[in-house]
Amino acid sequence: MSGTFTDNDLSHVIAADKAHVWHHLVQHKPFETNDPRIIVEGKGMRVWDQNGKEWLDAVSGAVWTVNVGYGRESICKAVYEQMMKMCYFAQAAGSVPAALFAEKLIDKMPGMSRVYYTNSGSEANEKAFKMVRQIAHKKYGGKKTKILYRDRDYHGGTLATMSAGGQDERNAQYGPFAPDFVRVPHCMEYRKEELGLGHLSGEAFGIAAANLIEEVILREGPETVGALCLEPVTAGGGVIEAPEGYWPRVQEICKQYDVLLHIDEVVCGIGRTGTHWFGYQHYGIKPDFVTMAKGVASGYAAIACMVTTEAVFDLFKDDSSDPLNYFRDISTFGGCTAGPAAALENMRIIEDENLLENCTLMGERMMANLRALQEKHPVIGDVRGKGLFLGAELVQDRDSKEPVSEAMAQKVVAEVGNHGVIIGVTNRSIPGRNNTLCFSPALIATADDIDKITDAVDKALTTVFG
Ligand SMILES: Cc1ncc(COP(=O)(O)O)c(C=O)c1O
Repeated sequence: MSGTFTDNDLSHVIAADKAHVWHHLVQHKPFETNDPRIIVEGKGMRVWDQNGKEWLDAVSGAVWTVNVGYGRESICKAVYEQMMKMCYFAQAAGSVPAALFAEKLIDKMPGMSRVYYTNSGSEANEKAFKMVRQIAHKKYGGKKTKILYRDRDYHGGTLATMSAGGQDERNAQYGPFAPDFVRVPHCMEYRKEELGLGHLSGEAFGIAAANLIEEVILREGPETVGALCLEPVTAGGGVIEAPEGYWPRVQEICKQYDVLLHIDEVVCGIGRTGTHWFGYQHYGIKPDFVTMAKGVASGYAAIACMVTTEAVFDLFKDDSSDPLNYFRDISTFGGCTAGPAAALENMRIIEDENLLENCTLMGERMMANLRALQEKHPVIGDVRGKGLFLGAELVQDRDSKEPVSEAMAQKVVAEVGNHGVIIGVTNRSIPGRNNTLCFSPALIATADDIDKITDAVDKALTTVFG
């Protein structure tokens, strides 16, 4: 147990939680008879719950966030010192850490130029959507307002981002949604038959999958389409990397039809995919907007960024005599200095501890371990991902690829928990397809941590499926 975890009597905390807290993404009926899990402390890759039980966290705070691990004193100190000096002023003015982090971030993003601060991934995406709409009015006579989003991708929990949400089970009962968001098909090779592209593979499949986007643009009318919003590697929709050939063709299509490319790096950003700072940098993409949140400060402070190019920025200052001709938007907490102060230190840690390299190495190890499990357990139909951002899709039958039920996938997660390891699973996402186990350990993971995680999965699969 961690050294500072001494107060074992948390009965009052549990009672207060059960009486008054509404947890995210959870059905609360079971809490009438059971206690919710309360995470009390964390250090490195480990967390401790209200019973003092130690867990190895293979999902960085459940939702791929705490990239540098728990208990980083230097981030806490940087935030403390910044907040004592200047905690908040609306971002209509500047702040010292906001300027310094923007400079450092842009240094990692050749081609990009401007950082708009906000406080959640959803909000960062909405800022880009608003810019696309305003550009449509300023430059295209109000016509290019449509925003394309992809099946299985997720961009947030607000109504506009859900309007761009490719996960039907997440969206169910929350409509009607905002107009002019249009879905394009996914590019998942494992289930390519569903796209009518079962006869293709590799690069040919990737190009054909991208061409499905072109079909939508032509159907809608290119003069009405302002932007295309994509995750570089789909996260909650099943941990899906695009096939070879996909991204170059996507870029070509965007250029041909004058469609802005918005890459949602909320999960992939700041090292999660290894080697590069951002997922899109693996594929030679030149985006017009990049949004990021979770790993930007590893959860030590709430910060999200909408980053764009100087060309987009210029569109918002070309006529200063027009009172409508600038981005008339504010995010109150985008002015909190704790976010960029934490983000600066978070980035320093990743650089000084070579965590991009460690992420690649440990990601390769985890991928090899998962592939070995796939050999052993027929229930693993597919293993995929990049860096320390991996998924294992569970199927009842490898030929038909019939998914295991969500209940069975959840059972595996619970069984892994019996071995002291927290993993994730796609949930309430794609109807009938919530069957992918998710792994996103912190970028500090050691070989021993990785082996412990996959050993627990091995044992759990044996227990559940034999
Ligand atoms: C790819 C992606 N984009 C956006 C979001 C929304 O971020 P937030 O929950 O900070 O609003 C998420 C959250 O999981 C995400 O996975």
